[in-house]
Amino acid sequence: MSTLTMEELTETTGALVRDVDTERLVDDVHLPDAVAEALETFGVLVFPELNASNDALVRFCRKLGTLIDFSHLPPETAEVMEISFDPSNPNAEYFASNSFWHIDGLLDEIAPKTSILTARVTSETGGETEFASTYDAYDQLSDMEKELFANLRVVHTFEAVQRLTYHDPTPEQLEEWATRAVREHPLVWEHDSGRRSLVLGATASHIVGMDVAKGRALLDDLRDRTTGPGKVCRHSWNEGDTVIWDNTGLVHRVCDFDHTRPRVMHRSTVAGQEKIK
Ligand code: OGA
Ligand code: MN
Repeated sequence: MSTLTMEELTETTGALVRDVDTERLVDDVHLPDAVAEALETFGVLVFPELNASNDALVRFCRKLGTLIDFSHLPPETAEVMEISFDPSNPNAEYFASNSFWHIDGLLDEIAPKTSILTARVTSETGGETEFASTYDAYDQLSDMEKELFANLRVVHTFEAVQRLTYHDPTPEQLEEWATRAVREHPLVWEHDSGRRSLVLGATASHIVGMDVAKGRALLDDLRDRTTGPGKVCRHSWNEGDTVIWDNTGLVHRVCDFDHTRPRVMHRSTVAGQEKIK
């Protein structure tokens, strides 16, 4: 069994991994299991200045599960997506919403399990990535809240997340957003492992059967408690850093930075296997 030397970053989330280099990333056959186990405990693993090529990262990530195919998006390889605001990147308008707390892929049938992000070009100021545990958020609820929330269901929409960036949408934007999937999820996810987490974030539109404003207020309050003081693991990027996180037990966001200056991140994503229930 492969062991990892880890340094905890906050009380609830994150650990720094210092003893993995690119050679070990590719060659240590026990590393994928050790990483998967550490992710279950820490949620986020930071590999400072790993400086791994996309090829090496993809080879490692394939051992964590099935990688999502981004071949419909430019450029890079099918298993690596470029996150940047470069005008040549046709997805840039959607990445604006990465600055709001979110879980990736809540509008997909099955949300991704693990995200792997590597900094290729860092912004001069800002552009840190923040993480907060939705397992801890559930654990911190009072017993009464746990009971009250047990059967609540939340509708997630593309429009909800886009409205955070585009406050005054054009008819064309509204029309395009309306073509996207709408998903209903329970507020509390009971994972196959037996652990429970909250399902929150920018895609959350309203709570089923609850007055819209009341539901929004509850969702906002839960988000604020999840991401409150002492709960956030903030990573300031150096070029070549790789961060791996458990998308099913965390919310994340990117902090403000100058979108007219380059910031290039490469992401691979391991598909999920478990429906939210
Ligand atoms: C993402 C994301 C944040 C960042 O890739 O899903 O939210 O810091 N990225 O670029
Ligand atoms: Mn994201």
